[in-house]
Amino acid sequence: MSQYLLSIDQGTTSSRAIIFDQRGAIVTSAQQEFTQFFPADGWVEHDAEEIWESTLAVCRQALKNAQLPASSIAGIGITNQRETTIIWERDTGKPIHKAIVWQDRRTSATCLALKQQGHEQAVQSATGLLIDPYFSATKVAWILDNVEGARQRAEQGELAFGTVDSFLLWRLTNGASHKTDATNASRTLLFNIHSQGWDDELLRLFRVPKAILPEVEDSAADFGSADAQWLGAQIPVAGIAGDQQAALIGQACFKPGMIKSTYGTGCFMILNTGSEALASTNRLLTTVAYRLNGEVTYGLEGSIFIAGAAIQWLRDGIALISHARETEAMAQEVGVEHGVYMVPAFTGLGAPYWDPEARGALFGLTRDTGIKDIVTAGLQSVAYQTKDLIHAMEADGAGKPTTLRVDGGMVANNWVVQFLSDVLNVNVDRPAIIETTALGVAYLAGLQVGVYQSLDDISLLWHCERHFSPEMSDDLRNDLYKGWLKAVERVRTID
Ligand code: G3P
Repeated sequence: MSQYLLSIDQGTTSSRAIIFDQRGAIVTSAQQEFTQFFPADGWVEHDAEEIWESTLAVCRQALKNAQLPASSIAGIGITNQRETTIIWERDTGKPIHKAIVWQDRRTSATCLALKQQGHEQAVQSATGLLIDPYFSATKVAWILDNVEGARQRAEQGELAFGTVDSFLLWRLTNGASHKTDATNASRTLLFNIHSQGWDDELLRLFRVPKAILPEVEDSAADFGSADAQWLGAQIPVAGIAGDQQAALIGQACFKPGMIKSTYGTGCFMILNTGSEALASTNRLLTTVAYRLNGEVTYGLEGSIFIAGAAIQWLRDGIALISHARETEAMAQEVGVEHGVYMVPAFTGLGAPYWDPEARGALFGLTRDTGIKDIVTAGLQSVAYQTKDLIHAMEADGAGKPTTLRVDGGMVANNWVVQFLSDVLNVNVDRPAIIETTALGVAYLAGLQVGVYQSLDDISLLWHCERHFSPEMSDDLRNDLYKGWLKAVERVRTID
């Protein structure tokens, strides 16, 4: 009998549900965008209730479209925008504040102060991360300090903290389960990636009471069961992973040295480093790639905050395009050499610069610059940022990758992927299924409920849809990239 897996992919701009069959093929999917709140410069919030409602709606829709009874779903996997912070009441399940999104920069002064006090090295060696508003810890403290009575209630055990996975799990299980997985925990700045536990020193430093933290499980585990009232049957939640780690699994990058890059709202490149937690000296992040049967596989991650979001801004922010798919033809027409650079530092710069106060800019405008040049510059910025990450990885001793596996909505654009291969001077493989985030967590759930026996089973399901090889001359590649580096230099506020 066929067994199906339901993936919840709760991303930064939309909630999605995808049903996969056991060969990893998509049966149906449903998607809903939700509101982005920008209450102040550099602040980004979501309404956690809307996250829950949209998630529930897409799960129901996907099941309806598939015309499958809920009982045919062997397991649910949850993958999520990472770091985004929610605190809710244990007795009602109600959030006490809007979710503070990973992109939010409101705690940059706190982070700067902690850095100036000399804490970064110790924090980095325990967590693999840097002190930056990106991660959850300072967001948690901000909510506890700014919602009346919250700190005291947290200390008394009345409140729960979670990243989006935990919150959805709590709701699906009607409060029976307050858990997360090691990949999500590893993004909070509170979790020691070596001992695999919440770290008391860090909890003290970031002023986070232990009583609000979820229990940390492997990425494939028994997380509890979704109550039958939600989807029509009681279904085990059997896999959880942060979306970027889930994409690594969906891309079957299970061997050390394998590397993937996902182009969603941001771009996140992860290199599998096996059982070694490779410490970066070039401002990359050491993170948990996945934890299975208690065994940790680590990753070296480069995180860029704006990739697909730059195209969204071209569409919704300044209306230069009406649909992302128009960009490919525009770029084809313009070509790679037009002199315009876009640095999409809308929410600061992530790796390897980590400059929360930097802001976006366009350079090289002339009287004949047109919409198409600016749009093309937006697409190119994504490839240049990826090259920054590869350079940092090489400087960390990772070696130049032979092949990069790419995924996420943006890689449907052939022009972008060819330009990426040209600028990186690396072969790029695009898999048959570019929804690798959802696929990855379906695989995790499938491992837990016995649909798959091993990672080898999963590797066999990965197929390349198109291979891209570099075609650009070295001179042109170097010239274009030099121009990018100059442009980035001009928006930076710290060295
Ligand atoms: O760390 C943030 C990341 O998880 C967000 O992913 O897919 O929403 O851009 P995405």
